[in-house]
Amino acid sequence: MLRLENVHASYDKSEALRGIDLSVTPGEVVCLIGRNGVGKTSTMRAIVQDQITVTQGRVSFEDSDLVGLRPYQIVRRGVGYVPEDRRVFQSLSVLENLRVPSAKAAGRRQWSLDDVFALFPQLYEYRRRTAGVMSGGEQQMLSIARSLLTNPRLLLLDEPHEGLAPKVAEEVVGAIIELKAEGVAMLVSEQALHTIRRCADRVYVVDRGQTVWDGTVEEFYAHPEITEKYLMVQ
Ligand SMILES: Nc1ncnc2c1ncn2[C@@H]1O[C@H](COP(=O)(O)OP(=O)(O)OP(=O)(O)O)[C@@H](O)[C@H]1O
Ligand SMILES: [Mg+2]
Repeated sequence: MLRLENVHASYDKSEALRGIDLSVTPGEVVCLIGRNGVGKTSTMRAIVQDQITVTQGRVSFEDSDLVGLRPYQIVRRGVGYVPEDRRVFQSLSVLENLRVPSAKAAGRRQWSLDDVFALFPQLYEYRRRTAGVMSGGEQQMLSIARSLLTNPRLLLLDEPHEGLAPKVAEEVVGAIIELKAEGVAMLVSEQALHTIRRCADRVYVVDRGQTVWDGTVEEFYAHPEITEKYLMVQ
């Protein structure tokens, strides 16, 4: 459903991606891993056409080209994006944050407020609370919930566990597993290797703006030298 072919992309004059090749098929959870600054976030931005300019290669979603589209047009096609910084409206309540226009499309799972509250019961409890006073984990859940209300077929999650306490991170893993069961495909950038085993089908390793290795989760764990070479801080 999603395919990136030899994608190069730049911020102004500085090239951050220089050869990203990856694909996500329907219902799959794919992990993007790599050290800090190698281009995981930039890869997500190149998919949703946010901040970065694709200068070479192809980004397609269900056979239509995404390069040159506006971010809202990409959301409408069924790609949800939960950025690293979560971007919830700090001064609005949980409910107000969730009152976003949903992207209706035939043949797509339609998420209601009740559905997202069933996934994250804590958000229902805090529905009248100002988002800005909530913890990082709660804001992460709110950001995911808001994205689900656009009815995505593919969800991009940029380091959803970053900075979260283990118990809260666990809840996010639980949500990923539940969403997968609902048929939502996901591309998740991740540093916490132990969570990959629990929820991912396949792994891509990124190094210096390039995808340098890919395989199933089982293959990834069968090759510890990959972790040593591309993930350990040198
Ligand atoms: N807005 C920006 N303008 C210019 N350069 C940027 C910008 N954002 C990121 N970069 C650069 O692009 C490169 C890739 O960064 P990116 O944020 O994609 O890495 P990452 O793998 O997500 O890292 P992390 O694990 O720290 O989140 C880095 O060299 C970074 O400094
Ligand atoms: Mg990042």
